Amino acid sequence: MKTFAVIHGPNLNFTGVRETAIYGSQSLEDINDSIRAYAITLGCKVTIFQSNSEGVLIDYIQNCYLDAVSGIIINPGAYSHYSYAIRDALAGIPIPTVEVHLSNIYKREGFRHTSVIAPVCAGQITGMGPNGYLLALSALSAE
Ligand code: DQA
Repeated sequence: MKTFAVIHGPNLNFTGVRETAIYGSQSLEDINDSIRAYAITLGCKVTIFQSNSEGVLIDYIQNCYLDAVSGIIINPGAYSHYSYAIRDALAGIPIPTVEVHLSNIYKREGFRHTSVIAPVCAGQITGMGPNGYLLALSALSAE
């Protein structure tokens, strides 16, 4: 059975609390429950992780390689826009990765229009809310 890692970056643990007009009212635990339920229907396994810290996220990405996961789904939060370290971590492992954003980063402030992560990913899903994670899982599990 394929295993996929879902990684949530900084502030995503406050989803459902923070800026609900932008990120929605579902909590991260609600979103994670939907991801787990969808994984069962696809016949795959998911491990889900959240951290507010860049180094901890990088350690987790490296462990994805050591654990030989089949794919990574990552919402790097604001790190998307400037973390060359997370980009390098993803670029350094041969695991297909999909970048997900709850909001449409291209409709928002200019600093969000650049993702330094996107060029090292197989694809990006932005603006589809929590369904973005399910779309990413569906795409990776079909590979
Ligand atoms: C986000 C978009 C980022 O710009 C922002 O910093 C976040 C959440 C999203 O899911 O829409 O924290 O990644």
